[in-house]
Amino acid sequence: MKVDPFLVERFMGKYEHDVELNLAETCVKPFSLGEFLRFVDREDYLEELKDLPLTYGYVEGLPELRERISRLYRDLNPEGVLISRGAIDANFLVFFSLVEPGDRVVSIFPAYQQLYSLPKAFGAEVRLLRLREEDSWYPDFEELSRLAEGAKMIVVNNPHNPTGLLLDREDLSHICEIAERYGAYVLADESYYGLNIFGDEVPSMLDLCEEAIVTRSFSKSLSLTGLRLGWIATKDEEVMRELMSHRDYTTISASILLEHLALLALENVERIYERNLGIVRRNFEILREWVESEPLIDWVPPKAGTVAFPHYSMDVPSEELALRLIKEKGVFLVPGSCFEMEGHFRIGFGGDGEELREGLRRFSDLLREL
Ligand SMILES: Cc1ncc(COP(=O)(O)O)c(C=O)c1O
Repeated sequence: MKVDPFLVERFMGKYEHDVELNLAETCVKPFSLGEFLRFVDREDYLEELKDLPLTYGYVEGLPELRERISRLYRDLNPEGVLISRGAIDANFLVFFSLVEPGDRVVSIFPAYQQLYSLPKAFGAEVRLLRLREEDSWYPDFEELSRLAEGAKMIVVNNPHNPTGLLLDREDLSHICEIAERYGAYVLADESYYGLNIFGDEVPSMLDLCEEAIVTRSFSKSLSLTGLRLGWIATKDEEVMRELMSHRDYTTISASILLEHLALLALENVERIYERNLGIVRRNFEILREWVESEPLIDWVPPKAGTVAFPHYSMDVPSEELALRLIKEKGVFLVPGSCFEMEGHFRIGFGGDGEELREGLRRFSDLLREL
């Protein structure tokens, strides 16, 4: 099976550990283990875990964890939750289980490349729903309706990486209606769920759409990236059966040890969100001020998540710009070329505020020099 190189992962993998200032990160400032246990007032917790038998645990996931996750949604039974190794594994399993050669899949674009390259690798005819900057990255629902005719699956990502677009309740219902019209599944990658900078209330696609399959993880909005845990949630029992039977070939279980830490995170989910919304809101302001002060940069401001996709007005390929930033200024961000869109770069604002400020200052220096 051939698969296209995952451009953003290749680029990040090559440089992220050797740069001084990393503005490419997409997670909200990950906790260290000690910080996390202090944050949830459970510094004694590792002592408690000492007696945990390190068995395979539960194939579908720790029952208490599935139960806790099911409560994040309206009317979802714990049986509708399957624990995965991050959202990347969750998305993989959905495509592996449901997409067959010749199927038609509509995917949002630009996007986290897995969402369109993987169904293509499984033999689907992938049609791209292109978001355009001149429309403020807002999708054209008539175009979606045309593209979705005969589709087996519509793939969305809300909040959206790389643009920070946030579709609201009405938009999500609209997508659901289109999917229902053609009998298509909706896969909603909600990895950045809840990081709504301006406080918009947006439900999960699962609470609006019976046919939805949603994926999410502990990486981005919960700052526990290193746990490598996530989940798939669906109310469709037939889909769950397919996921389970395919998963037998890829994963026996996630880690029982890490699932206990994940459970602790969900028991404190509101406090973690409070911390993380504080971080993204403060950093968003730093970024906004910088964009507004830089004549060569403009953007559609992100509404949610941890990343933005500004545009620069210079005749320099985005990869060259990113490489010069790395080599000359020690600043790392992702060139638009990794999203197959020139003239842009993706910048993360979920990390350390001072690092962001200094990185932007050096970016300004490079812009002057260019
Ligand atoms: C939209 C989206 N989905 C999934 C992932 C995978 O994340 P993880 O496996 O850490 O949950 C990412 C990571 O950048 C992402 O941006």
